[in-house]
Amino acid sequence: MMINAHGLRKTFTTRSRKGSQTVEAVRGVDLEVQRGEIYGVLGPNGAGKTTTIRMLATLIAPDAGTATVAGHDLLKQPREIRRRLGYVSQAGGVDDMSTPRAQLLFAARLYGVADPAAAAEEVLKTFDLAELADRPGRTLSGGQKRRVSLALGLVHTPPLLFLDEPTTGLDPQNRANLWDRIRQLRDQGTTVLLSTHYLEEADALCDRLAIVDHGVVVAEGTPGTLKRELSGDVITLRLDDAARGAEVLRPYAKETRLDGELLRVYADDGEHALPSMLRTLEEHGLGLKSVALDRSTLDDVFLAKTGRSLRDTGAAA
Ligand SMILES: Nc1ncnc2c1ncn2[C@@H]1O[C@H](COP(=O)(O)OP(=O)(O)O)[C@@H](O)[C@H]1O
Ligand SMILES: [Mg+2]
Repeated sequence: MMINAHGLRKTFTTRSRKGSQTVEAVRGVDLEVQRGEIYGVLGPNGAGKTTTIRMLATLIAPDAGTATVAGHDLLKQPREIRRRLGYVSQAGGVDDMSTPRAQLLFAARLYGVADPAAAAEEVLKTFDLAELADRPGRTLSGGQKRRVSLALGLVHTPPLLFLDEPTTGLDPQNRANLWDRIRQLRDQGTTVLLSTHYLEEADALCDRLAIVDHGVVVAEGTPGTLKRELSGDVITLRLDDAARGAEVLRPYAKETRLDGELLRVYADDGEHALPSMLRTLEEHGLGLKSVALDRSTLDDVFLAKTGRSLRDTGAAA
């Protein structure tokens, strides 16, 4: 196993004129990441993704909990761990004043790479940066800077790569390219732990994932098993009296969720259940304004586990 973490916790205390305030950023997180997989940490802004990654990357110390990362103890052998990982922060970390090539050479030397020039050349090629290699960082676009920061995280070919929201702010084309590159790295044996607030990204890219909210893991598994857990279909009904609707439709549902005048009914076979459901509503005199039938998505998993939609948290654009 590449990462085996148990009970990680981190509380921040900030002081201002109004007094001190504590935030429990991570409240007991367990993670098991296998060698050679792409593992996703999916959650809205403020869920504790960055804090979790920074603890596992030895950048901040946990208040409690234990972990082994790349075969070494997080608390006792941080230096051994650092030698084996690459870390690309949410903000990036590309220097505006120097060129990508110079920054890559510097990073390669810092990590003690045997042939820094060759290593820099290799990642410049991997991330299609050859033509940008000798331009100052400040002249690069957001997507180009992202690629440089990824190259910086990989120049020493670490077996474990941490990517904190690697595709935030990228256009769809650049995002698709980056997904391809991350998959290539995985196929070549790199273990990738990435955070994201994009449902589509977690679904399409990750072999397994943990859904986090308010500093805890609320669900864990492959995208497929997480979705199957909630059965196949979700029927969304807009009703005059959704609470009453939930009561009378209970027999058809694996699970129901109320959201204002919306009622979501999770069912194994929505198409089959729908006609009887509509008849039942009519029999009870419940006015129906609209109805939609969809396959359940990771957002439904998030909704079922936390009571709110990842799309409504303002995180998933
Ligand atoms: N250095 C810090 N000082 C104070 N609060 C912090 C600090 N870092 C993170 N937090 C708080 O901890 C919570 C989790 O933050 P973070 O781990 O950055 O979440 P995410 O990456 O999922 O958006 C948030 O409420 C955030 O404001
Ligand atoms: Mg973050």
